[in-house]
Amino acid sequence: MDIKKEILRLKEERNAIIVAHLYQDGEIQDIADMVGDSFELSRYCAATDKDVIVFCGVHFMAESAKILSPQKTVLLPALDAGCPMANMANAEDLKKLKAKYPEAAVVCYVNTTAAVKAECDICCTSSIAVKVVRSLPNKQILFLPDRNLGQYIAKQVPEKEFIFWPGFCPTHNALTTMHVEEARTAYPNAVLAIHPEAPPEVVDMADFVGSTKQIIDFCTQSDKQEFIIGTEEGILHQLKLKNPEKKFYMLKYRFICPNMKKTTMELLYESLRDMKHEITLDEETIRKASLSLERMLKVK
Ligand code: 13P
Ligand code: SF4
Repeated sequence: MDIKKEILRLKEERNAIIVAHLYQDGEIQDIADMVGDSFELSRYCAATDKDVIVFCGVHFMAESAKILSPQKTVLLPALDAGCPMANMANAEDLKKLKAKYPEAAVVCYVNTTAAVKAECDICCTSSIAVKVVRSLPNKQILFLPDRNLGQYIAKQVPEKEFIFWPGFCPTHNALTTMHVEEARTAYPNAVLAIHPEAPPEVVDMADFVGSTKQIIDFCTQSDKQEFIIGTEEGILHQLKLKNPEKKFYMLKYRFICPNMKKTTMELLYESLRDMKHEITLDEETIRKASLSLERMLKVK
């Protein structure tokens, strides 16, 4: 069986689109209709007129697609592809914290469960986090779950007071200043681009900080030839496709999100063949969580 052909055939039969996050394996990115960062994928899924969205990414991303398009069938090929950071926040603890800070706007990173989004005022992704926080009238911001991204935003918006949740991404949080020192010594002419999920002392050493898509755009538009990349290595696929003449070095050896790597061509095929694994959410959660996601999509 030619698995690529079968996936494309089933995609037509189901009137489906395949979307893939930039951390997915290259062959998954290549077969997808849309490859992007969390923000782009949310926007794309909200606008599609297809009946089925097959989400090659992790659970919270597929959930966001379902929240934004509740009438569509949303499938996650790898059932156990979760995000450990999203699982570090829960709605019960958030309700208690909100009661302690009644004046605060609750801003949640899109890397949260639908139940947590339902308790937030507005969502953000790393690409528009600073804009989202600046758009709010509140002086106090309760930011969750990524304390590293939270601290990065706080530095850009010093006029606000922040309350951070103690969450983090195990993949990005493993970066240290030593990784930067070693990479700078090995590649003295390279420019360092880092994702804001990295620890603050590492982010402070970067030449550029941004979401996955922003890192790709930065490297593509730059007239520099060498780059050290401080995010998951799946991003190299688009970086190399767009910049065949430039050199990219990973900031850390085996810089991998194990959950993003759970999607395979076989699981993608089975997902379309058997219509699995369908994301389901109750109506009330969708109603409440959609407010925070839609507010995010309206931020200019
Ligand atoms: P982006 O929005 O930059 O794609 O980030 C998503 C993510 O999970 C990073 O770890
Ligand atoms: Fe979650 Fe980190 Fe993986 Fe992104 S890289 S999906 S934040 S665990």
